[in-house]
Amino acid sequence: MAAVPALLVDDISLLVTNAPELGPGLLGEVERAALVAEDGRIAWAGRSADAPSADERVSVGGRCVVPGFVDSHAHLVFVGDRSGEFAARMAGERYAAGGIRTTVAATRAASDDELRANVAQLVRELQRQGTTTFEVKSGYGLTVEDERRSLAVARGFTDETTFLGAHVVAPEFEGDADGYVALVAGAMLDACVDHARWIDVFCERGAFDEEQSRAVLAAGQARGLGARVHANQLGPGPGVRLACELGAASADHCTHLDEADIAALADSGTIATLLPGAEFSTRSPYPDARRLLDAGVTVALATDCNPGSSFTTSMPFCIALAVREMRMTPAEALWAATAGGARALRRDDVGRLSVGARADFAVLDAPSYVHLAYRPGVPLVAETWKEGKRL
Ligand code: NIG
Ligand code: FE
Repeated sequence: MAAVPALLVDDISLLVTNAPELGPGLLGEVERAALVAEDGRIAWAGRSADAPSADERVSVGGRCVVPGFVDSHAHLVFVGDRSGEFAARMAGERYAAGGIRTTVAATRAASDDELRANVAQLVRELQRQGTTTFEVKSGYGLTVEDERRSLAVARGFTDETTFLGAHVVAPEFEGDADGYVALVAGAMLDACVDHARWIDVFCERGAFDEEQSRAVLAAGQARGLGARVHANQLGPGPGVRLACELGAASADHCTHLDEADIAALADSGTIATLLPGAEFSTRSPYPDARRLLDAGVTVALATDCNPGSSFTTSMPFCIALAVREMRMTPAEALWAATAGGARALRRDDVGRLSVGARADFAVLDAPSYVHLAYRPGVPLVAETWKEGKRL
């Protein structure tokens, strides 16, 4: 295959590299910068005045460039919406895990083409908002065949696919959670393992307890899947400590934590992935990111896009919430939404803009990334580039 000509992307007012060797601060910031993309990768990044020559040049006209967002937690394979449930919550009703079953019924009734079309629509939406890497979970099928086809559909869009058969107990197994866990860890895992990189479980009152969660995660790990856990979302519980004990890549939500949970995260390689869209949409208290960061925990931000508890594809919205409501600085929130997401997916080739990384980035209609939180709700992502090409 012929090499793609090297492309110089120039006139960047502020380049966020997430590579401290390239510039000051957590974000490795470079002012009046440029980068060179070649064969889909970053071949060079630095000050514009020092840029090497390239075959082609484009100017971004003095705008800010940030790494493409890495959304490490999304439930995109479903049909239908639950806006009625949202409206009822805003009128005072509580969020409960059981709402998931409404989407399960709709998803089971949908054709593969309908599922694919819905995912494609959401992927267009998230790309327009600067996301270049995203994870997709199953979890609205809950039969062997519906989980398998959910993951097969997801694989058409991303390699970061997660088997979440243990989202809630399938309606057919009402009153027999252990029977359902045996199915998930057995025949369902067999059918899904080739379409998945990760296994996840909703470890929560009303979903799966510690022992059931451990059984599911251990079965997946024995088949070569990496672990991730929905942990401590609706109340305190064993999820975070279980994630750390099993060496999970990420414990997600982390809303209700005690000191032991925070110590376990700080002592482990498990990333704390915070999903403020869920607290926004369920009108719940936000996780305390400041407490986690001050304890030395690595934090990621993700959307949790799903039709029940967080129907947003917008990483900029999550950054704004994290800054305003979770006591993160704009720099910490941007890092968590890029490099943090990459860590949560155990990826080294995304979430940064330095030599060897994928040339995945967003051009902001703003002089600085601070505007992502300072100008909430404004569509600041002017262009999204993936592997050196404008989408
Ligand atoms: O991450 N926590 C479990 N799953 C989703 C909610 C899914 C739903 O309500 O449909 C979440 O918030
Ligand atoms: Fe989730």
